Amino acid sequence: MSKKRSFIQQFWKDRKTVGSVRPSSRFLADKMLQNIDFTNSKIIVELGPGTGVFTHKILEKMAPDAKLLVFELNQNFIRTLRRKIKDKRAILIHDSAEKIQEYLTKYDLNSADVVVSSLPLFNFPQELRESIITASHKTLKKDGKYIQFQYSTQAKKLLESTFDKVTIAFTPLNFPPAFVYTCTKQ
Ligand SMILES: C[S@@+](CC[C@H](N)C(=O)[O-])C[C@H]1O[C@@H](n2cnc3c(N)ncnc32)[C@H](O)[C@@H]1O
Repeated sequence: MSKKRSFIQQFWKDRKTVGSVRPSSRFLADKMLQNIDFTNSKIIVELGPGTGVFTHKILEKMAPDAKLLVFELNQNFIRTLRRKIKDKRAILIHDSAEKIQEYLTKYDLNSADVVVSSLPLFNFPQELRESIITASHKTLKKDGKYIQFQYSTQAKKLLESTFDKVTIAFTPLNFPPAFVYTCTKQ
């Protein structure tokens, strides 16, 4: 089944969790990843990969000795990712994003350099949304980055209250057009 069809199917099953009717565009993927220093990022976390639009690009750019921890809650998406991704640097986790620290410890990894998130934060209950942002902040090293896309600027206040620096970029070349938040922990 094509990625687009699989996405629509999962969206109709669970709209709030999937959060979009189609996978992100390559233009959005490029915007999400453009501020990452891949040479020096040894631990990267991805939250909500869906069909893997960002995951494949991260693996292409990542250093040979880096690790990518991927959290996906949807059973269908994680099954497909496990079938398609055979890269030993990737750890594919079928669990919820707020458990980042638990899994970093499990895999004997320290804090992360970068967290890349596609989660539809404002479809979640406030408590879950805040616990994911807090867990992501906590898990980052000094100067680490949390990169998140959203379809609105609604997340600005929450991210600014957690991170030291937040910049916002926009791409119309996605459906729907998207805002990319790059947040730094200092
Ligand atoms: C908007 S989609 C983005 C998918 C993909 N990254 C893209 O940009 O095309 C959001 C994804 O987050 C996943 N998701 C939602 N809640 C989650 C959670 N608590 N933990 C991990 N993944 C979650 C959904 O299953 C879905 O795959």
